[in-house]
Amino acid sequence: MSPTDPTRYDRVASLLHWLIGIALLGQITFGFLLDDLAPRGTPARAATINLHKSVGLVLGALIVLRLLWRLRHRPPRWPASLPLWQQRAARLGHHAMYACMLTMPLSGYIASNFSKHGIKFFGLALKPWGPDIPAVYSAFNLLHVATGWLFTALIVGHVLIALKHGLVDRDGILARMWPWSARRGSPHPVTDSGGSR
Ligand code: HEM
Ligand code: HEM
Repeated sequence: MSPTDPTRYDRVASLLHWLIGIALLGQITFGFLLDDLAPRGTPARAATINLHKSVGLVLGALIVLRLLWRLRHRPPRWPASLPLWQQRAARLGHHAMYACMLTMPLSGYIASNFSKHGIKFFGLALKPWGPDIPAVYSAFNLLHVATGWLFTALIVGHVLIALKHGLVDRDGILARMWPWSARRGSPHPVTDSGGSR
């Protein structure tokens, strides 16, 4: 793969996509299972929540790195075969997922700083920079929970569409996000004559 190949994602972008994607699936599942793994009021609760917070902050840093990389590296052009409405829908969906990726760690982080519990980052207590205001905590926590659901719906749609491109359409769109396959993935190589992004 040439680093300037305009028909594929560059290797760093695709490695970050898969690393963060897999980690996010784990973190979202962990978030939804928090109450089952460690019900409120049980001794395991604080350690479990703090593990979720710590992993979430590491993920937040990786997401910022990914976004900076994305802003400095153009994604590949759309293949000419992709209808304009699908290009627009994909662009909107990708932007919405980036927004969710930022909102998740940020809302959790801000909420925790308006609570006396704060954050224990892998055991290291980070002193909250905000006062203990339950209403502010609840507002950001609500944003965290609601974005979690929206994000999940977007990811389900994204994965189904990606699989359709890879297994049904076989138009090379799935392969161009794969870091190692170069041009092997598709019998119909993606052209560079589609719309810009
Ligand atoms: C990419 C990062 C993150 C993802 C994807 C994520 C995802 C989730 C999800 C799906 C839930 C379950 C929501 C529900 O109850 O329906 C949750 C709960 C929670 N998350 Fe996160 N989270 C992330 C980062 C963080 C961070 C950085 C913090 C705090 C520093 C945090 C604090 C919490 C707390 C306190 C809850 C429990 C909320 C409640 O049940 O009241 N999360 N998270
Ligand atoms: C948590 C899971 C995932 C998230 C958050 C996610 C997010 C994203 C985002 C934001 C983009 C746009 C990249 C850019 O233009 O900068 C993207 C592209 C892509 N994703 Fe995912 N993704 C996830 C999982 C998956 C999975 C499981 C697959 C495959 C089954 C997949 C296949 C693709 C493909 C093929 C593209 C490139 C589309 C194109 O050519 O424009 N993604 N993903």
